[in-house]
Amino acid sequence: MTRPHASDSRRGFLAKAAAIACGGLATLPPVAAGLWAFLDPLRRTRGAASFLPVADLAAVPDDGLPRQFPVITDRVDAWTGFAAEPVGAVYLRREKGSRDVQALSATCPHAGCFIDLEKSGRCFRCPCHNSSFTLDGGIVAPSPSPRVMDQLECRVGRNGEVEVKWQKFRAGVAEKVVQG
Ligand code: FES
Repeated sequence: MTRPHASDSRRGFLAKAAAIACGGLATLPPVAAGLWAFLDPLRRTRGAASFLPVADLAAVPDDGLPRQFPVITDRVDAWTGFAAEPVGAVYLRREKGSRDVQALSATCPHAGCFIDLEKSGRCFRCPCHNSSFTLDGGIVAPSPSPRVMDQLECRVGRNGEVEVKWQKFRAGVAEKVVQG
């Protein structure tokens, strides 16, 4: 019986190492594709803002007084979907004889609390630190809010549906910056 030569066993070892390396490389594309598909929901949650229906025009009387409406949409939180969830609220108002609707976010620009409409209906007030705003969203001094209430893009469809471009903005800063 002949003993295996040293160079034969070295060749065998190199062949095995090469086979393992090739096998590892071959699995890379499917693993990368799987990882991409797994992380995809995280990327998709940062999509662009969209117009959401919030009310019928008939529900916003043309008397200049704001009415509050919830903003409801399907929400995706990474891998979990929530159907028809309230994600915020807006105040809608319009002037006499106008079809144009002004939409103001009910989120306070100071620190994100919910802004109330005063019982008198003459101004908005945030209960957290007492910022006050006029009915068209301007600041009533003295108020800690660094900016006026956040106005949202709004449009009225042919069938009278009021749609609002729902966006959130950074709190505590003077500029109106969309939250990423
Ligand atoms: S959060 Fe509204 S005044 Fe501070």
